[in-house]
Amino acid sequence: MESNKRGAFIVFEGCDRVGKSTQSNKLFKLLKDKDVAVKHINFPDRSTIIGDLINRFLKNTQDLSNEVIHLLFSANRWERVNSIQEDLLAGTTVICDRYAYSGVVYSVAKGLDMDWCWAPDRGLLKPDAVFYLKANPDQLASRCNFGTERYEKLELQRKVSELFDDFNERESSYWHQFDAFETEQELHSQISTIVEKLLPQVADKPLEKLT
Ligand code: TYD
Ligand code: MG
Repeated sequence: MESNKRGAFIVFEGCDRVGKSTQSNKLFKLLKDKDVAVKHINFPDRSTIIGDLINRFLKNTQDLSNEVIHLLFSANRWERVNSIQEDLLAGTTVICDRYAYSGVVYSVAKGLDMDWCWAPDRGLLKPDAVFYLKANPDQLASRCNFGTERYEKLELQRKVSELFDDFNERESSYWHQFDAFETEQELHSQISTIVEKLLPQVADKPLEKLT
């Protein structure tokens, strides 16, 4: 008999260097070890032609206007939407580092209008859960150096952090906030507890879209 249980769409968000990849990797590994069908993706997806342009922009070898880079980040998500949907419907859980929220937050932090920024991402798949790793950027800067990419600067990260907080408040029905300064293991255990409950809950739920 064919099962039509779908997978969960799980997104990790937060400032640069908060430990998103560490936690998403740990979750991916845990599910894999439990024989749950799971994939791990991240945005920007630097492997496509659009992703290569984004990569050059982030590495400061290509200048693009705020509007153009914003639309490229969004287009980079639209490039993947069908494959994400196919995976979810086939029963595969998709863990995704960064999504439309990063798209909006970084662009609004640079001064673009919120509604304008959200518009191109409308219609993308809506995550079942967003795990928001929250850290004060000032504390983060003293714990580890930001890297050399374009957005890894304290002033911008402060704005980004506030804008993520706003999303967390507005979208509290599926956003879960965590203190990024908890130990790796403690965070992992909090996140896995939520995911264990989430998988059976969403299995029969239709996929939703961002509105
Ligand atoms: P990041 O997650 O740091 O990429 P990687 O894991 O490959 O190092 O993302 C790179 C930068 O891109 C980061 O500073 C956030 C920014 N960004 C946007 O400005 N808009 C977006 O839509 C996304 C997905 C990321
Ligand atoms: Mg980064």
